[in-house]
Amino acid sequence: MAKATVSYVCSACGAAYTKWAGKCDACGAWNSIAEEAALSAGPKPTARGRTIPLTDLATEEAPPPRAQSGIGELDRVLGGGLVPASAILVGGDPGIGKSTLLLQAAASFARKGLKCLYISGEEAAAQVRMRAQRLGLQQAPVGLGAETNLRDILTTLDTERPALAIIDSIQTMWLDNVESAPGSVSQVRAAAHELVNFAKRRGTAVVIVGHVTKEGAIAGPRVLEHMVDTVLYFEGERGHQFRILRAVKNRFGPADEIGVFEMAGDGLTEVLNPSALFLSDREAATPGSAVFAGIEGTRPVLTEIQALVAPSNLGTPRRTVVGLDSGRLSTILAVLEARCGIPFAGLDVFLNVAGGMRVTEPAADMAVAAALLSAREDVAIPPDMVLFGEISLSGALRPVGQTENRLKEAAKLGFSQATLPARSKSGQAEGMRLREMADLTALVGEMFGA
Ligand code: TYD
Ligand code: MG
Repeated sequence: MAKATVSYVCSACGAAYTKWAGKCDACGAWNSIAEEAALSAGPKPTARGRTIPLTDLATEEAPPPRAQSGIGELDRVLGGGLVPASAILVGGDPGIGKSTLLLQAAASFARKGLKCLYISGEEAAAQVRMRAQRLGLQQAPVGLGAETNLRDILTTLDTERPALAIIDSIQTMWLDNVESAPGSVSQVRAAAHELVNFAKRRGTAVVIVGHVTKEGAIAGPRVLEHMVDTVLYFEGERGHQFRILRAVKNRFGPADEIGVFEMAGDGLTEVLNPSALFLSDREAATPGSAVFAGIEGTRPVLTEIQALVAPSNLGTPRRTVVGLDSGRLSTILAVLEARCGIPFAGLDVFLNVAGGMRVTEPAADMAVAAALLSAREDVAIPPDMVLFGEISLSGALRPVGQTENRLKEAAKLGFSQATLPARSKSGQAEGMRLREMADLTALVGEMFGA
């Protein structure tokens, strides 16, 4: 008889330990490690698994067509539509709008003729119906369920055989053969495992909703990322109307694609031109503001990078970053100091991406450097200029991909000059004046006369 062993698992990332610790070495979270009863090993397998030669797989059958919801921002993030039999994880902070998005998605798919079930473990059916009413979706042919017992849910799914099943949320689901509480790493993992299995076996696309948790009392969606085909995160700042659906993993499409939505009184609406939205609040010619021509997935997106530099009265000056990697800021500050002789010691630095957007591309380096210099020297960057390019540790500017797309989007939005690395493959950029620069010293000299 196999002995059920006890182990310790981080509820943020799922890393396993043999003894308790205050901090998870794998993800750095504090107080996230909890005791978990491991599943017993079960009987040893006796029958040998059957394999089939790769060449035997029928090639005549075309892959099943993807289903489109008609919500363009969602379909694109999914990689062109919903793939049958796929498992999709939708993660995000509580209250960000996951249930709203998925109810709207279910209604859209249902109107296209797909059989959709929306199972809520958090709200009663009447509450879901009220939400649907508020969204103007009360007539949509979506099956609703309010249930947390996964065994019952799977039985329902087995008899109803929907094309799409939405499980909201995985942290409320429980299986009777797992001893720990709903929301624990074991329950969340076991429940997700059953759902993914069901998706593969029955051809149903399963969407699993997971709350991102800060405290570690319940397991976060990161624990499940490797089990599913597609991982989408729904992000946004609480004070802002924008919501960004970001693909971080997709077996059936490009990762790092984004979809932009706006939360209004009657639900989420698509934002078809995110660049215009992110730049809409921009004040003309303010020192410290630089427009970055970025690429998110398959689409160019322009964002405003804002910097503020002020004398510090602290021993270690402040470095506050929102929407960008703080490590990247340190690197750029170090390069400016070492290669261009512009020190930021004794100065507080605040860096922000306007509109609640998050920028991860290294191509943003040049716009960040320009915003920092502009703030420090109190010289505004021309308001009709975009910047992009990666900065190397030597201070050289490196060309980045999709130069032409970036320039086209900038031209479309009325920008007329671009600062970019020398040797960029810029092709045709109608109406754009290009200022190519080999290194950061050239940028400092030409734009800030330092
Ligand atoms: P919800 O979808 O319940 O979030 P989650 O499932 O991620 O926890 O969204 C809740 C928030 O969205 C709540 O603060 C109210 C707001 N909201 C609107 O602004 N408009 C709407 O039409 C709806 C349904 C919700
Ligand atoms: Mg919800």
